[in-house]
Amino acid sequence: MAARINPSILSADFANMQHDLERIATADYVHVDVMDNHFVPNLTFGPQMVERVQATSPVPLDVHLMIEDPDRWAPQYAEIGCFSVTFHAEAATAPITLARTLRKLGARAGVALSPKTDVGAYLDLLPEFDQVLVMTVEPGFGGQSFLPHVMPKLTQLREAATRLGTDVWLQVDGGISTETIATAAQAGADTFVAGSSVFGADDAAEAIAALRAAASA
Ligand code: DX5
Ligand code: ZN
Repeated sequence: MAARINPSILSADFANMQHDLERIATADYVHVDVMDNHFVPNLTFGPQMVERVQATSPVPLDVHLMIEDPDRWAPQYAEIGCFSVTFHAEAATAPITLARTLRKLGARAGVALSPKTDVGAYLDLLPEFDQVLVMTVEPGFGGQSFLPHVMPKLTQLREAATRLGTDVWLQVDGGISTETIATAAQAGADTFVAGSSVFGADDAAEAIAALRAAASA
């Protein structure tokens, strides 16, 4: 299937969110970076803002929680109807229990791995998750450079998914552009978060189409 392209509204104009959501109507999902100033040194939106974004967005929401104690705070994003809810492996106390809770609430459950986090512990657990987000920058800010040294994690995840026969989506997030997307796709990614390369373009729809084409090149 075609690559999924999820623009990150971290690079949108926060004062013109409705306008910027309309610019990315051809995307697959909208990536929403929730940050709490504790897990990462940056602060963005909470559930009220996410609920408003959901009411306005032309496509479903892919929520990426860069927060401490997701065990406590993640379920509310599933409760308000977000399509997928991804929490960080480094922050969760009981990741399997949390993933099961999210699924029970009707969301796709995702686990995110920061660049320094080893993937080994998750390979046999893939059936518990609908998606794995491999960070290709240190979480916290848009506009950073893609880290190619994390690509072996995607290869390992893709091999494990095939071995276990599980249909898990493999997402990359950070520094994705037409220059870097093919590298991530070849390593096994099928879902691509892109912030600055989409919202920084004059024509966001054109940028999304160019990313899709470059992913399958
Ligand atoms: C970073 C966020 C990303 C960010 C990506 O912590 O998780 O989603 O918006 O931005 P770009 O595509 O500019 O690297
Ligand atoms: Zn993100």
